[in-house]
Amino acid sequence: MTTRIRLAGGLLLGLMLAGGAFAHGDVQPQPVNTDGLESLGTEWKEENPYRGNAKAVTVGDSGYNQNCARCHGLQVVSGGLAPDLRYLPTGKEGDEYFVERMKHGAVVNGMTKMPAFDGILSQEAMWAIRTYIEAKHEE
Ligand code: HEC
Repeated sequence: MTTRIRLAGGLLLGLMLAGGAFAHGDVQPQPVNTDGLESLGTEWKEENPYRGNAKAVTVGDSGYNQNCARCHGLQVVSGGLAPDLRYLPTGKEGDEYFVERMKHGAVVNGMTKMPAFDGILSQEAMWAIRTYIEAKHEE
């Protein structure tokens, strides 16, 4: 009886992992509503213009949970599929790294592990997401 339950559990987990792997190459980005945030123009900022902005945290919360959470985990707590973003450096150093990743995504051995978000999410949406992630920062 117990063995059977364990087997079923293992199978289910296997299916979930397989499904997750499929979903990776086929990500459908979700638009982020950035109404109420100052417009930033087309030139990329080097530093987060919204740091500490409460509205940006709210916008970033929804933007993150729609576009990043499936890999990086709900509420920025990684389940192990992708790095835990709570540990990204804060301040300008973390900003530069963040923007690079957002522009180029991550391609490892020719496989897209993370899609590029340049041209898909607005600069406003990306910095709002960064503000949200930084609000969740852990040492
Ligand atoms: C399809 C899965 C997937 C999605 C969606 C995704 N990422 Fe990633 N991300 C990854 C993986 C995998 C890595 C690690 C790549 C590597 O091995 O270098 C990564 C790396 C990163 C890094 C670098 C982290 C570090 O510690 O080096 C940042 C920053 C990041 N992602 C931000 C985001 C943000 C913000 C979003 C949403 C807008 C997002 N990602 C959406 C899979 C994803």
